[in-house]
Amino acid sequence: MKSPRTEIFDQLRAIQDRFGYLPPDQLHAMSEQTGTPLYRIHGVASFYPHFNLQPPPKVCLRVCTDMSCHTRGAEELRSGLVQRFQGMGEAEVSVRKVSCLGQCDGAPAVAINDVSYRDVTASQAEALVLTALGGRPLPEMPPEPIQTGLSPDPYRDGVQYGALRQLVVSKDFDGVIAQLKAAALPGMGGAGFPTGMKWEIVRKAAGDVKYVVCNADESEPGTIKDRFIMHHLPHLVVEGMIIAGLVTGAKQGVFYIRHEYVPQEHIIEHEIQRCYKEGLLGENIMGSGLHFDLELFVSPGGYICGEETALIEAIEGKRGEPRNKPPFPVISGLWQKPTALNNVETFANVPQILVNGIDWFKAQGVGGTSGLKFVGVSGDVVNPGVFIIPMGTPGTNVMMGLAGGIRGGRKFKAFAPSGPSSGYLPASMSDTPLDFKSMAAIGSMLGSGAIVVCSDERCMLDMALNSIEFFRNESCGKCVPCRMGTQKLVDILTGWTQGKGTAADIPLVDELSEAMKLASICGLGQFAHMPITSVLQHFREEVEDHVLRKRCPAGVCSMRSARVLEVVA
Ligand SMILES: Cc1cc2nc3c(=O)[nH]c(=O)nc-3n(C[C@H](O)[C@H](O)[C@H](O)COP(=O)(O)O)c2cc1C
Ligand code: SF4
Ligand code: FES
Repeated sequence: MKSPRTEIFDQLRAIQDRFGYLPPDQLHAMSEQTGTPLYRIHGVASFYPHFNLQPPPKVCLRVCTDMSCHTRGAEELRSGLVQRFQGMGEAEVSVRKVSCLGQCDGAPAVAINDVSYRDVTASQAEALVLTALGGRPLPEMPPEPIQTGLSPDPYRDGVQYGALRQLVVSKDFDGVIAQLKAAALPGMGGAGFPTGMKWEIVRKAAGDVKYVVCNADESEPGTIKDRFIMHHLPHLVVEGMIIAGLVTGAKQGVFYIRHEYVPQEHIIEHEIQRCYKEGLLGENIMGSGLHFDLELFVSPGGYICGEETALIEAIEGKRGEPRNKPPFPVISGLWQKPTALNNVETFANVPQILVNGIDWFKAQGVGGTSGLKFVGVSGDVVNPGVFIIPMGTPGTNVMMGLAGGIRGGRKFKAFAPSGPSSGYLPASMSDTPLDFKSMAAIGSMLGSGAIVVCSDERCMLDMALNSIEFFRNESCGKCVPCRMGTQKLVDILTGWTQGKGTAADIPLVDELSEAMKLASICGLGQFAHMPITSVLQHFREEVEDHVLRKRCPAGVCSMRSARVLEVVA
């Protein structure tokens, strides 16, 4: 069967692998050979951070300076490395910033010539750069051992793919939808849309051509749970996708994974091949006459590609710019066909529900919620990582318990329940149950379960600025309120951190936030204000200290800080 994706990225990657970048004559030749207009090829190549239009330096060192890494000294690491290599010249070594590498539990993280490293010190980074400069191969990070017997795995004691094996015999596809609806399985990518309803709409949609897509783009700072699930429970995700295909009537699936997740890409590819060998994928699955093909698509990069319609555009070989919705992907998704697009964790939940039953699923949550939840915890905690918790577990149990509490004996000041999109909450709210409803009730969100913790060393204005810089950097630029609004917020907040604010700025930020919320076409622009809106709500005095009193109480911002004032006094 013909692949549902275009080959433009494969062709661009082949050129880049050969030349190190995309030379103009090669793009011309590609245009002539494929009949694709040059402007289209250029439009695509210039959109994605993965492609170089200029020859790259011999060693490109990229330091993640987003949220979790920001709390772990990434900026100091970056500036120290800039100094260390400044005499070398741009053609030899360049030290740049990069958006979240998905290693937030190993912060600070860096990428050297596209190889990611966790928990990096300045001397380690320097040694790696010198290795690459010397033309020697870069060492890979030691592989993370695969954990078995995890509680969400319904096959701890038996043969895997049991739910699928049963389904190909019973062919009770409506029954699967009924079970997902009874379990009220929410989408785990952030928005919490009911999965049973999503699959039902695709199943009932007219036409023979439909698709299933797994969203493993996971690029928001703090979000690391899908990496964990793909690493340790790949069979549940692949099984969930095959079941989605059979239930919705889709014959093809695409597993969309971010390009930095190289070990997980190999694990998923291996799992897919295993399913083909065992007759669980392809023509005539287990002799049932049913058919589903699945292939991996490695993202050319960018946080915006996690937005479902941008992701679909990327698979279609275009710039990853979100579409206007409606129509939603369930009606008009990949190649304008009905598409069931879900998050990694959502798919992994499906076999759990089908094998263990609805009562089991409901019993896993606490406080009237259902299921287990994978959460990533990073930032100022002793033991960052991914934890499997009952849905509805109070945040304190996770941050102060499982993640070991605040590092360095500092006090717990604030947390973001789901990366920059959720904004920041004070430590006093950390007892709130981690579930969709409870988090929404306090004006935040469970989102994708990306908890980032801040100790009392953090300046919340500085944290808000760091988060909005991430959105500014990752905005696709398609709509003005987001493109200009994120930059304007960065400008205003930067001014505040430098003691240049005025009282009139605060209502201006509120007004700008409201305009971005109402007029941006996708979630990035709609939520980009959250870091500062939440900080103004919960840490207003700290902001006013900067704007009105020209002091940074935490002594972080580059204005006359409280610490300096104390010394002067
Ligand atoms: C800017 C942006 C980035 C997103 N990134 C992701 C992502 O990395 N993974 C994900 O599953 N959903 C992400 N989403 C949400 C998806 O658009 C979509 O709602 C989700 O994949 C649907 O799957 P679900 O119903 O299983 O949650 C993102 C949304 C926005 C606006
Ligand atoms: S809101 Fe921002 S990221 Fe989303 S489409 Fe508009 S410009 Fe692009
Ligand atoms: S790897 Fe740096 S914030 Fe995620």
